[in-house]
Amino acid sequence: MCGIVGYVGPQQAQGVVIDGLRRLEYRGYDSAGVALVVQGGTVVTAKKAGKLANLEKVLADSPLPASTTGIGHTRWATHGPPTDVNAHPHDGNAHRIALVHNGIIENFADLRARLEADDHVLVSQTDTEVVAHLVELQVQSGEDLTTAMQRVCQQLEGAFTLVAVDSQDPDRVVAARRNSPLVVGVGEGEYFVGSDVAAFISHTREALELGQDQVVTITRDGVEITDFDGRPAQGRRFHVDWDLSAAEKDGHDWFMRKEIFEQPRAVADSLLGRRTRAGLLQLDEMRLSDDEIRDVDKIIIIACGTSFYAGMVAKYAIEHWTRVPVEVELASEFRYRDPILDYSTLIVAISQSGETADTLQAIRHARTQRSKVLAICNTNGSTIPRESDAVIYTHAGPEIGVASTKGFLTQLVACYLLALYVAQVKGTRYGDEINQVMGQLEAMPDHIETVLSASESVYALAREHLDTRSVLFLGRHAGYPVALEGALKLKELAYLHAEGFAAGELKHGPIALIEEGLPVLCVVPPRGRDQLHEKMLSGIQEVRARGARTICLAEEGDTRIEPYADVLIRLPQVPTLLQPLVAIVPLQLFACELASALGHDVDQPRNLAKSVTVE
Ligand code: M6R
Repeated sequence: MCGIVGYVGPQQAQGVVIDGLRRLEYRGYDSAGVALVVQGGTVVTAKKAGKLANLEKVLADSPLPASTTGIGHTRWATHGPPTDVNAHPHDGNAHRIALVHNGIIENFADLRARLEADDHVLVSQTDTEVVAHLVELQVQSGEDLTTAMQRVCQQLEGAFTLVAVDSQDPDRVVAARRNSPLVVGVGEGEYFVGSDVAAFISHTREALELGQDQVVTITRDGVEITDFDGRPAQGRRFHVDWDLSAAEKDGHDWFMRKEIFEQPRAVADSLLGRRTRAGLLQLDEMRLSDDEIRDVDKIIIIACGTSFYAGMVAKYAIEHWTRVPVEVELASEFRYRDPILDYSTLIVAISQSGETADTLQAIRHARTQRSKVLAICNTNGSTIPRESDAVIYTHAGPEIGVASTKGFLTQLVACYLLALYVAQVKGTRYGDEINQVMGQLEAMPDHIETVLSASESVYALAREHLDTRSVLFLGRHAGYPVALEGALKLKELAYLHAEGFAAGELKHGPIALIEEGLPVLCVVPPRGRDQLHEKMLSGIQEVRARGARTICLAEEGDTRIEPYADVLIRLPQVPTLLQPLVAIVPLQLFACELASALGHDVDQPRNLAKSVTVE
């Protein structure tokens, strides 16, 4: 996710800002920029696609004037590819202000249309530039930058952190936040704003936490906080005692753990802006026409690893809501079986990185057979979406841990959205049914939060298994891919023998593996659907009768499971199709903690690469 820094004080702002951006590099980014306010009434900007080194080269070739007020940004592309023009900061047509942004402005298309109707010329494809124009309009009408920011924030929908400077007010930096991170650093006669404390920790360890929907103004004299209506507000003062590397991980020991805890936010972000005011589902980036979707009579999902398991869950959802048959295929196998494809087959390629070679080769093959390809991807500007006919971006933010966590959850969200969208276009579900599921999806971040709040008990359970050499995972229906993904997490992180099975298949062979004390993690489906729950209970009894130690993930209120569970982990009550979004979380925590307790490198497990760019 984007990194943001703002500074006002006695030091040269350029050095402070670049230093802050460097410390935010771990967040992942694809372009960078700075803006400085120069005494005498101008704002100067430098920005460049690529790594910070590219920006530094620009600054070395064409040095900016001295300045003690500045802002900086590392951009992780969402709206528009990573180019020089789309890099932040952005300004308005009068070039009076400069503004950087993290998040997504949901109503930017409406706002942009209004600006263009008033003869504003917007040069980038970003949602951010729209906000820069709006803030500039306000300051040109005579408001100070703080009031301008308050007024503009009232017009914005979505999640955002904004930071701006005004050439006519050289000692002021103004920032705002809604559902997106922003902290203030409090120094001696100098103040900072940042996406997190890593942005300023080398200058001060005193910080202020802001509340929701607040605007903060920093000057050399201090900090002033208000709400979006201009009413005074308070921040919470705290002292940062983390070392620098812990600060980058938000206090967690591993990026993976941090990313597990980011999942409620990532899921919420992936759902932002998907419904029109009229209640219809919209997928902005998806470039397939309704006619093309109506023509689809078969969907083939291709992916690898965790993304493949997301595809397996998607099959249940797509077939249930759309009645279109779905096949799910490992990308590495796809083209070698000479698949039967034509223009009415939609290929859905799921890839967090957008660079996986197996998946890329598979979509290239599909396109030679005239099939349309839709990518579900977390990385804007990557190869797979670029070579696809359509794309749905997930908004997980950069995933640094090699083991995919928030990438998986946001892929599930994108798959649900795709399924509902196809159902809407094909008319296989009524609008109120689609809205009901959207409401259930929008409640998922809170449910995931509930699961995370019980993390300590899962950690304790993981630490009981330090001597375990083998673990089995059972699931049925949408819980089966969760079992497979739970096993994959344990294999790749803890280097254990771990296998996932469809619970009904057990008696056809794998039950021979059960021996006294073998841990078996069971994903129990919600009650009351197609006898799934009852059948799962039978499977659990079968392994328990043969000595297995059953660790059951079951919904609140499920008392039937109690006699058969040696350990019970409770899940919130959610519909069967959406249960993977909560059921996988304890399995991620389990694998992360067990690997950590075993002394393994959780973020970079042996033999693995984050992005597998060879076949
Ligand atoms: O970037 P992709 O989603 O295409 O990556 C696919 C797999 O390589 C990836 O999911 C891998 O299995 C992860 N290590 C799982 O944690």
